[in-house]
Amino acid sequence: MGFSETKDNQIKRNVTLKRWEIAHISEEEYWEEYTTESLSKRSSERYKKKAKILIEEWKKYIKINSKTKVLQIGCGPDDVINHFPVVKKYSIDPLADFYKKKFKFNYKSTNLQKAGGENIPFKDSFFDVIVLTNVLDHTHMPEKVLSEIQRVLKKEGLFHFENYIFQRNFLRIAKIWGILKRIFGNEIYNVHHPYMFSLQDLKSLISEKFSIIKEEVGRDIGNYENFQEFEENIKKERKITIKIPARFGLYGSINYSCFCKKNHI
Ligand SMILES: C[S@@+](CC[C@H](N)C(=O)[O-])C[C@H]1O[C@@H](n2cnc3c(N)ncnc32)[C@H](O)[C@@H]1O
Repeated sequence: MGFSETKDNQIKRNVTLKRWEIAHISEEEYWEEYTTESLSKRSSERYKKKAKILIEEWKKYIKINSKTKVLQIGCGPDDVINHFPVVKKYSIDPLADFYKKKFKFNYKSTNLQKAGGENIPFKDSFFDVIVLTNVLDHTHMPEKVLSEIQRVLKKEGLFHFENYIFQRNFLRIAKIWGILKRIFGNEIYNVHHPYMFSLQDLKSLISEKFSIIKEEVGRDIGNYENFQEFEENIKKERKITIKIPARFGLYGSINYSCFCKKNHI
């Protein structure tokens, strides 16, 4: 069993713009259900805590002070960028105008602008830190997003990345389920996400532009040093709902995170 045996699930290089637009509309509908109060209650405390932890972690690799420029791409209505205590904050999201109209978070402090990661509206080597969490599988062109991040990140800058990954057999079944749903139900499976990645997909995409300096798998369900430890822990897990699917390569929505530096060309 392993995430590395996913050659037959390599990512399709780009989905169509139409497919991305469908995801974009459904994303807006999803956030329409929330109010500032309900979102604050749901996640603000968690983001505040996470922002503090990240700053401490980043300090091991980069100088952090009030001049440090941090960009979050696909920041959603509320995320860590809204809660960093020091640093100069910037954020972009294709739904920025909708978020500004609907929610009362302090978007001036995060310089929120409407833009996609495929065209980041800043000059080369502008940022010290770039954050991309829970976004790459929502984008239209993941490779272009990573190229843009490489362009606007300073030479010694830090790229903080997180995304869900799925085991090999989960992806195979999802593919078949998606086809059946389209044919018989005229519906799109996993409509918010134009992409679903295996660990291998993500690491090969990222490694084209960046060097991974620290990584973690499965943080959402515990803290592990590496994937082997994660698998061993899963085996030990008493919860049958995790143990059995993981053994058969059927486990999904596992968080992958890494810190990266730019590959020097
Ligand atoms: C699941 S939300 C994540 C929001 C936030 N990061 C969080 O974890 O709560 C995905 C976000 O990605 C944004 N997004 C979709 N396509 C994008 C693109 N091409 N470039 C940047 N952001 C994009 C969506 O508008 C949405 O706000």
